[in-house]
Amino acid sequence: MPFYGGSELATVYDDALTEGFGLIASNIAEPNIMMGLIEGAARKDSDLLLQLSGGASTFAGNEDPVDGLRTMGTYIEAIADQYDIGVFLNMDHQSDLGFIEAQMDLGIPSSIMIDASHEPFEENVARSREVVEMKQDKDADVLIEAELGQIKGVEDNIEAAEAFYTDPEQAVEFVDRTGCDLLAISVGTQHGVAKGKNLELRPDLAQEIRQTLRDHGLDTPLVLHGSSGVQPEQLQEMLQHGICKVNKDTRYQYEYTRTAFDLYREDGTAIVPPEDTNANRETFFNDTEWSPNKDVFDPRVAGREIRGRIADVHAELTEVSGSAGHSRFA
Ligand code: G3H
Repeated sequence: MPFYGGSELATVYDDALTEGFGLIASNIAEPNIMMGLIEGAARKDSDLLLQLSGGASTFAGNEDPVDGLRTMGTYIEAIADQYDIGVFLNMDHQSDLGFIEAQMDLGIPSSIMIDASHEPFEENVARSREVVEMKQDKDADVLIEAELGQIKGVEDNIEAAEAFYTDPEQAVEFVDRTGCDLLAISVGTQHGVAKGKNLELRPDLAQEIRQTLRDHGLDTPLVLHGSSGVQPEQLQEMLQHGICKVNKDTRYQYEYTRTAFDLYREDGTAIVPPEDTNANRETFFNDTEWSPNKDVFDPRVAGREIRGRIADVHAELTEVSGSAGHSRFA
C-alpha cells in the first residue's frame, strides 16, 4: 500500500486522540532502518510514521536534500507498497523555507515540522505561520507541526544546552495564531542519549497544556520529542494527555550500530587478518594464505540483522504506545 498524505494522517491522529494511543514517529538515518520499521509495524498491524530530518535528507541525497527526499520518497513508496498498513512520512525539524517549499511542491511528505522553537516567541509564531500559509496557498495535502518550548540535547547536530518548558496559556496563543495542525511541547524529555531516571518529566504539564487548549476549543494533537531516554511506563503516562506523536531517533541509531558491532566482534577474524599477515588489502583476494570470509563481510549480512533488530524494537514500541492492532489500512 503506498504511503499517504496529510488528510489520511489526520484521521489516524483523530483515532489516536479518541482511543488514547500514539504513533511512534521513527527517524530514518538510512534505508535498512526504514525497512526494519515497516516490517515491525506491519507485524503488529500498526500504521507507521517515518521521519526524515534535514541531515538525513542531505545524507541520502549526496549533499542535496531535495534529491535525498525524492530518492527516499520513491524508496519508501516501493517498500510500503509490499505491506497492508498505512505508511506516512514526516519531515522532522525543518527550518529552511526553501526546502520546505520544495517538499510541498514534490508532494511527498504527509507532514512537515517547522522548528523555530529556538527563536523568541514572536519570531517563532511568524515563521510557523508562514509555513501554514504556504501550505494553504499551495493547497498542499500536508499537516504542519510547530514547536513551542525548547528540548535539551543534540538533534541533527544542533545542540540545545537548556530546556524551556512550554507554557500552557502561551500554547493556546501559539496554536491560535499559527494555525498549526500539531503542537510539539517541551515537558522534560531530552534529545539524544538520556537516562529516563534523570529526566525532569512533567506529565502534569502535558495534561495542563492539553486541558488549557481544550478549554479554548482546540483539540490539537500534541507531540513528544526526544523520547529515546523515556521509559515505557513514563511514555504511557504521557500518552494519556493528548500526546499522539512520539518522536524516536537515537534508539534506532544505537540498535543499528550495536547490531553490526556484535556481529563483527563475534567473528572478527572473518574480516581482520591475523597480526603476522601482510596487511596489504589488495592481496587478500588472490595472493595470501589468509582470506576474509564473505559469508560475514558481505554488507547484506549485517544489513539483514539490522533490519530484523529494528523490526523487533519497533514492534515492541507499537505495543508500548498502543498503536498495535489499530491500523486504519490493514
Ligand atoms: O525529532 C526527533 C526526536 O525528537 C528524536 O529524539 O533522539 O531522543 O530519539 P531521540
